[in-house]
Amino acid sequence: MSTTILPTPADLSITPRDRRFGRSAAEPRLWHGGRAEATAIYNALSTTFPRGEAFFVESVRAFRDGVPPRLAEEIKAFTTQEAIHSREHDAFNKRAAQAGYDLSMLEAQVEKRLAITRGKPPIVSLAATMALEHFTAILAHQLLADPRHLDGADTEAADLWRWHAVEEIEHKGVAYDTWLYATRDWPRWKRWKVKAKVMLYVTRNFVVDRTAGALELMRQDGVTGLRAWRMLLWYLWVRPGMFRKIAGAWVRYFLPGFHPWDEDDRHLLGAYAAIGTGDEPKRKVRRAA
Ligand SMILES: [Fe+2]
Ligand SMILES: [Fe+2]
Repeated sequence: MSTTILPTPADLSITPRDRRFGRSAAEPRLWHGGRAEATAIYNALSTTFPRGEAFFVESVRAFRDGVPPRLAEEIKAFTTQEAIHSREHDAFNKRAAQAGYDLSMLEAQVEKRLAITRGKPPIVSLAATMALEHFTAILAHQLLADPRHLDGADTEAADLWRWHAVEEIEHKGVAYDTWLYATRDWPRWKRWKVKAKVMLYVTRNFVVDRTAGALELMRQDGVTGLRAWRMLLWYLWVRPGMFRKIAGAWVRYFLPGFHPWDEDDRHLLGAYAAIGTGDEPKRKVRRAA
């Protein structure tokens, strides 16, 4: 297993777009079409991003020494994109707090999960990052592929989520390629076993934690008990059914020889594809790499 072919498209460009969202006006509390369950699940996801994405960056950068030059460049662009995502989701979360939500329970849960992972060898953090980046990429794909997911959402908030989705698709192979390089001397079966085990662990926590987080935020809106469960499960699994719709792409992660770019979904980047290459204000983007 010494040579690794990286199937990332040769003409892929990972372009950090230094955008700011929602700074000018207060956001309605139920910004997602006035719906408690829709607002709650997106807010619960957003709560994980500032700390979670900092962890992704730290996990990938721990293995950047000696990687091929092209991957080194991709790691830099990924780092910059994630740093800007963290900043924008931090601002988004502050607006949710200003609207009256208490996010402390959700934040504590993220900290708890990260502390457990950080207590393990760095390669486990990389495997967890790779798994969560696959999650993010398939959620992003679905979000852009089906406009129903953001139906009725506040315009600025919807823009933030679409912008984030675009960049997650662009850098979806970076953690994976870093892993392929870091484990290039491992036997195939060991690579697959660690990758699969970590994905199962991460998935369980992702589904349980985001569901619990969303239910907590719905409780803060006065929606509780069976009614809250019914609304949330319907939204996630039936209509628009984000979790159901990503199930197939989630399973593909376990196929031998899988790579995130097996599916080239850059056609979904649409209007955003050109942004950041000249249309953007010439603001200096902080590069953490
Ligand atoms: Fe991100
Ligand atoms: Fe990402």
